[in-house]
Amino acid sequence: MAKNDSAPSLMNTSIIKKFVMSITGLMLILFLLFHMSMNLVAVFSTEGYNMICEFLGANWYALAASLGLAAGFVIHIIVAIILTLQNQKARGSIKYAVNARPKEVEWASKNMFVLGIIVIGFLCLHLTQFWYKMQFAELMGLEEVSAGGVMVSPADGAALIQYFFAQPLYVVLYIVWLGALWFHLTHGFWSAFQTIGWDGKIWFSRLRCISNIVATIIAIGFALVPIFFLIKSLCCSGCCPA
Ligand code: HEM
Repeated sequence: MAKNDSAPSLMNTSIIKKFVMSITGLMLILFLLFHMSMNLVAVFSTEGYNMICEFLGANWYALAASLGLAAGFVIHIIVAIILTLQNQKARGSIKYAVNARPKEVEWASKNMFVLGIIVIGFLCLHLTQFWYKMQFAELMGLEEVSAGGVMVSPADGAALIQYFFAQPLYVVLYIVWLGALWFHLTHGFWSAFQTIGWDGKIWFSRLRCISNIVATIIAIGFALVPIFFLIKSLCCSGCCPA
């Protein structure tokens, strides 16, 4: 008797966890759209970009947003780990992934966990390069941080961008990161909407199309910044006085 009762309750908690994954995932996508738009300002105006960085420094509202964002990331990751372990255990009965999937979405949907790990790995590198030298440095009361030996203000995000993306290795690493993020989002976006109830045959193909568009906008929008600053530094090293 107890055995029969446990199946539906396991199913219910899986649905709740998938719901939490979807809401936090959509929240993270909103952050990515905001972060990407903010970064693109650096391409047009480094002064404008630094004004935004100053606004988003160690001010209470920026710190509150950072804490909310960190909580969203942590919840998304912990629930993903729990669901993946649960699925491995219950393989064949309850599955986290949607069963009726067309072949072309198989790869991203099957590899969401691995893609997520790659995204987080690169995110750690990214945070040490930027967040640690900016918001964290401001919190620690530092007035200057090092950008390749040159001391700059922690609010000088443009100087850090120029320094890191003048190095081709970092640009390549960021593009690999954005590739993994693209695959993760192409599945994550439509899957999240499906979980919260936006279902049906017509909407399934529409959502998949919107998913690809959103993931591509995010990946290309982010990639433009490292590529632009690499080209700028290569051009500048040929034409600017030393
Ligand atoms: C490729 C171009 C990117 C550039 C130039 C860039 C730049 C920055 C900068 C300057 C900061 C520090 C902001 C501050 O502390 O005031 C930052 C923080 C951050 N970035 Fe990025 N970023 C990029 C891509 C990404 C991507 C793809 C992700 C996520 C997958 C990401 C996630 C974050 C997070 C979570 C923070 C901490 C935000 C906070 O403190 O609230 N970034 N980034």
